[in-house]
Amino acid sequence: MKAVEVKKDIYWTGVKDWNLVDFHGHLTPHHTTYNSYVIMDEKITIVDGAKITLSDEMIERVKTVVDFSKVSYIVVNHVEMDHAGNLPELLKLAPQAKIITNLAAKMGLEEHFDTSSWEFIIIRTGDEISIGKRTLSFYPTPMLHWPDSMVTYCKEDKILFSNDAFGQHVCDNTIFASELPMDVVIAEAKRYYANILLPYGSQAEKALGVVEKLELDTIAPGHGCVLQGDEIKQMFAAYNEWDSVENKGSAVVVYDSMWHSTEKLAEAVKSAFDDLSIPVKKICLRDIHYSQAIIEIMDAKYVAVGTPTLNNEIYPSVVAFLTYMKGLNPKNKVGFAFNSFGWKDGVAAKVQDYFTALNWQTLEPFAIKYNPKCDGLNKIKEHLKKQIG
Ligand code: FEO
Repeated sequence: MKAVEVKKDIYWTGVKDWNLVDFHGHLTPHHTTYNSYVIMDEKITIVDGAKITLSDEMIERVKTVVDFSKVSYIVVNHVEMDHAGNLPELLKLAPQAKIITNLAAKMGLEEHFDTSSWEFIIIRTGDEISIGKRTLSFYPTPMLHWPDSMVTYCKEDKILFSNDAFGQHVCDNTIFASELPMDVVIAEAKRYYANILLPYGSQAEKALGVVEKLELDTIAPGHGCVLQGDEIKQMFAAYNEWDSVENKGSAVVVYDSMWHSTEKLAEAVKSAFDDLSIPVKKICLRDIHYSQAIIEIMDAKYVAVGTPTLNNEIYPSVVAFLTYMKGLNPKNKVGFAFNSFGWKDGVAAKVQDYFTALNWQTLEPFAIKYNPKCDGLNKIKEHLKKQIG
């Protein structure tokens, strides 16, 4: 229950969601944290709140550092309910506290809560507020990933409170990345980026341009581990790579199957990529969640999607994947649709429509009736190799 000192007089007072395995639709195998921080200065400041269901835990942790009656400010970096859900509870305990946030966030909070008794200080980009020995400055990062998102910087401590940016769904006994394998932290940051920030790559690039200029030795995100020193450089390098629309030239084959026909086609498609020496991964949506597929798609050039026909439609699990992917809007891909149908052709074209909506290049789709025997499997391989090779 104790708070954890991140830097002198700056405490982590967040909560750990040990049981979370699904964060609004994407899987979180390492669970998550909702990080808040208390800055002990002349004007005691809380940075961000927590999900309402874990509010009591956050409140008890804050109380190990400070009595709520002494809190002057609560900084709201983001309105989404995993960070702002317990604001009414915090303000019940600290009604004298002023909310520091941006205009879009104020409007968002007004949509969620009765804010009639809340006092706001509205900041704009680069505004500074002195809290005593320290100065906080604020940088809105709109659409990274909500209109209200922003980050808060303290120059005296060289610390950035980055909220969702640079976050990872990692929950462990430590809150410091230095105590965990960094490859796990980066992999979870990538999962986070792929499933939440991917549609906003240009905004992420712009925000990175701003924060890279700040003198930093600590990043205190809204989820997962606190980054220090060289870990920050590693995270910035990873974000620079993910923000880019460049791909690594690899391929992903994503499919589901009813009676193993599409599965056989998927294996043949994979084997065609192997023959072309294109690194390829195969993902069956029956076994692997689509939020995992998105991580692979981030790096890929070719995205091959296979579906059986069910009642003249794309198979439901494949529709779910395509819908999810369309929302995340991965760019600069080449799509290939393949299909096994029973008595009516046409579903591969429906898959192709998703690629077109994403402005991808497309390859000529391939469909085959019922079970693709040896001849059919050779046909799809040659069909693909002819178009790529
Ligand atoms: Fe972690 Fe967009 O909330």
